[in-house]
Amino acid sequence: MSEEIICKISNIVKEFPGTTALDHVSFDIKKGEVHAIVGENGAGKSTLMNILSGVYPPTEGTVSFMGKECHFANPNEAERAGIAMIHQELSLATSMTAAENVYMNRMPVNKLGIIDYRKMNADCKDLLKKFGVEYISPKTIVRNLSVSEQQLLEIGKAMSHNAKMLIMDEPTSSLTDREVKFLLSIVCQLRQDGVSVLYISHKLEEILTIADTITVLRDGHHISTEPAKDMTEHKMVSMMVGREFESAHRRDFIKDYSNLKPVLSVRNMYNMSGKVNNVSFDLYPGEVLGLTGLVGAGRSETLQCIFGANKRKCGNIQINGQDVKIENCDDAIKHGIGMIPEGRKIQGLFLKMNIKENMLVVYQRCAAKGGILKKKALKGLAEEAKKELNVKTPSIEAPITSLSGGNQQKTIVARWLMNSPKILFMDEPTHGIDIGAKNEIYKIIDDLTKKGVSIILISSEMPEVLSLCDRIIFMHHGYERGELLNTEASQEKLMSFTLDSAMTEDERKEREAKNVV
Ligand SMILES: Nc1ncnc2c1ncn2[C@@H]1O[C@H](COP(=O)(O)OP(=O)(O)OP(=O)(O)O)[C@@H](O)[C@H]1O
Ligand SMILES: [Mg+2]
Repeated sequence: MSEEIICKISNIVKEFPGTTALDHVSFDIKKGEVHAIVGENGAGKSTLMNILSGVYPPTEGTVSFMGKECHFANPNEAERAGIAMIHQELSLATSMTAAENVYMNRMPVNKLGIIDYRKMNADCKDLLKKFGVEYISPKTIVRNLSVSEQQLLEIGKAMSHNAKMLIMDEPTSSLTDREVKFLLSIVCQLRQDGVSVLYISHKLEEILTIADTITVLRDGHHISTEPAKDMTEHKMVSMMVGREFESAHRRDFIKDYSNLKPVLSVRNMYNMSGKVNNVSFDLYPGEVLGLTGLVGAGRSETLQCIFGANKRKCGNIQINGQDVKIENCDDAIKHGIGMIPEGRKIQGLFLKMNIKENMLVVYQRCAAKGGILKKKALKGLAEEAKKELNVKTPSIEAPITSLSGGNQQKTIVARWLMNSPKILFMDEPTHGIDIGAKNEIYKIIDDLTKKGVSIILISSEMPEVLSLCDRIIFMHHGYERGELLNTEASQEKLMSFTLDSAMTEDERKEREAKNVV
């Protein structure tokens, strides 16, 4: 890293209706440094990055890049100047192929001016290989990729611009540990090549391992910019929240299962696409059951399959010992199951509705059958949820799109809690959520289990799995490969079990032959 300044942010103000998202923010970014930006949900991180990358202009203030004051009219101009951004919300065109997405607006053409698909696909293949995702074919329609695969593709796309400054807005939020490590190695490589990386993440451990410099924002104000070596996690959190911070207590884990009867039993479940392959397990009252595995292990599909959101080929589901028929999500909801899905934009939010409507969607659908709901009572419920989860907005009638990423996620969590489910599936529920709100959600999970609610949790954050789950099941290629009780689990054990469960088919057969599995 040199001392040369590549980007100077001076007195940036950004006003949105009813909100000052940034209030006279100034700091510098050096050439070839990894500069992390941290702050609570709604602190103004994405807004600042959107200004740097030409998504919209600041209300006041200036940005200079490589010695020149810049006024980008759109992201393409910023890209041409050498600033590329990976957005917090996936912004790929889902009905186009991977290659078309990477080379959008700059597809190679032949002498006749016709798009040269062969070259484009070959270039894309090289690029994906460079970023370790060669298993994604350039011709795959993006819709058919999982959320994390889409995220990796988005990273490849941004890298392909040969940017001088790369902005990553929560690039690792839906990646597993192994993929995160890989991404961080790419970031280090970029730093060696003299690229500046602006890195936003709520995973503070990750920030401390990767960043050279850390900037803290709070409520749109610049709080500090200092070398990472002078920071600790505790200091960062205190600056972010503006007070001393207490982390959540640990749960009392279930120690004795002998007298418990399962609330939910799944037997020999397969889905149509082959991603769920003979899954069988039980879930007990008041239990938090963790599903772990690498991306593509079939964890999300398993939950979707039980919930009726993913077509089941066969399999048996029992609730409290009784066979039940769940053909679709409505059936699942009727049986008291709730689901906080992965990837809020794709599966969770209704972008044309406001915050209140997004919160009330399921509640209204269920309650409407029972009687007339008073508008005022509904509004009261939504206000209460806003308060409980600390959703940062001037009004619950504001568009959902005006919320910061983390606050959108809190809205979805609120939606399902409102419906008082007996069984709750949570797929990466703290994805993009700041440390304060994460603790709120951990507390809610603990409270729910004390009331007898059973939870299945998918999380790629090992510490989260360890601090929440009574029992952990490891999945690979759509089937369970083993389980651990919390009392026997540790971070190292989880990691080695996960990798172990991901061994190749040949390795597995070989081990089975030796009878060691
Ligand atoms: N288009 C918009 N219209 C109105 N308000 C907005 C808009 N975009 C952002 N805001 C508001 O500006 C503030 C800062 O939001 P921003 O998205 O920058 O937060 P963030 O730090 O990225 O948070 P997170 O960690 O949740 O992603 C929030 O209060 C948000 O509600
Ligand atoms: Mg953001």
